Amino acid sequence: MKAWTLAARPKGTPVTDDFALVERDLPALNEGEVRIANRWLSVDPYMRGRMNDTKSYVPPFQLGEPMQGGAIGEVVESRADGIAVGTLVSHMAGWRDEAVLPAAHVQPLPDLGVDPQAYLGQFGMPGMTAYYGLLQVAEAKPGDTVFVSAAAGAVGSTVVQIAKAKGMTVIGSAGGAEKCDWVRSLGADAVIDYKGGQSVVEALGEAAPDGIDVYFDNVGGDHLDAALAHAKPGARFAICGMIDVYNDAKPTSLKYLARLIGNRVRIQGFIVSDFKGQQDFYRDMAGMLKDGQLKREETVFEGLDRTPEAFLALFTGGNKGKMLVKL
Ligand SMILES: NC(=O)c1ccc[n+]([C@@H]2O[C@H](COP(=O)([O-])OP(=O)(O)OC[C@H]3O[C@@H](n4cnc5c(N)ncnc54)[C@H](OP(=O)(O)O)[C@@H]3O)[C@@H](O)[C@H]2O)c1
Repeated sequence: MKAWTLAARPKGTPVTDDFALVERDLPALNEGEVRIANRWLSVDPYMRGRMNDTKSYVPPFQLGEPMQGGAIGEVVESRADGIAVGTLVSHMAGWRDEAVLPAAHVQPLPDLGVDPQAYLGQFGMPGMTAYYGLLQVAEAKPGDTVFVSAAAGAVGSTVVQIAKAKGMTVIGSAGGAEKCDWVRSLGADAVIDYKGGQSVVEALGEAAPDGIDVYFDNVGGDHLDAALAHAKPGARFAICGMIDVYNDAKPTSLKYLARLIGNRVRIQGFIVSDFKGQQDFYRDMAGMLKDGQLKREETVFEGLDRTPEAFLALFTGGNKGKMLVKL
């Protein structure tokens, strides 16, 4: 197999030299194992945290070892009962072209009638993050005004569409006019171009003159501060990600933090795995899909060689919808 390894721990923004492509022999299959040819790889912002040698909710990538990440592959050899050759599966042995895994580490794809790669995006981990973060962590309900940052990304664009399907007013933010137009086309009532020159706090004040009930945070920094400035009494914040600080642990200055107190704002971080095993996601998303309430967009880099490039582009806004690598 060919696999990407972490060659060096990045300082600040990663560079291509932090990654190295290696060739390794794969073992013959043991009983209960499958050999998988990967077709699609996911690159995700959380992987930046795994490049640091620090304690976190997932262990760090090891230097010189194949990196991991979500992937969709086809079973090309099987010694596992119930997993036939030709089955498409999702698993975590990404950043490589082939893998040998125990059957317990692979999941045959659900049958929702969508393309296989959708199970890395809207119908996979990012979609679940959007769904549970919005509906369970933030307890968003019909009639709420929801602000979501990185709204043109995999998680954010799904938050926009679920919120609209459930009868909420939605304000998104994204970088650049083209992305903002796309977020509007997904149903958002207003979109803030945070690269457009106006401050987020001012733009959010114009978009939500009566304030916001929910903030779904993917960015942190000035977006979180703007949400604090415009939070209604009893607002709920689901803190999903803070991509603004992943490459640079700069001190976050939150001018409006004290608004938490008087407005009784509830602010809650979460990890999507907190919701592992819950079944309502697929059922509810399948219903929204059938009703024509979900659109999907992917940015695709072709070839294993381009995996680091695809990953790095997440931090410069190089993707609309889910960032994927096609093998
Ligand atoms: N808690 C969890 O379990 C969980 C699970 C999945 C994802 N997440 C988090 O959710 C967030 C979104 O993840 P995703 O997979 O959907 O990625 P994504 O939004 O598809 O891609 C990242 C996007 O972030 C925006 N961005 C990058 N740097 C930025 C900055 N400094 N300020 C503002 N925007 C910036 C870019 O869009 P623009 O062009 O609009 O800037 C970029 O396209 C990330 O923070 C991720 O870590 C958390």
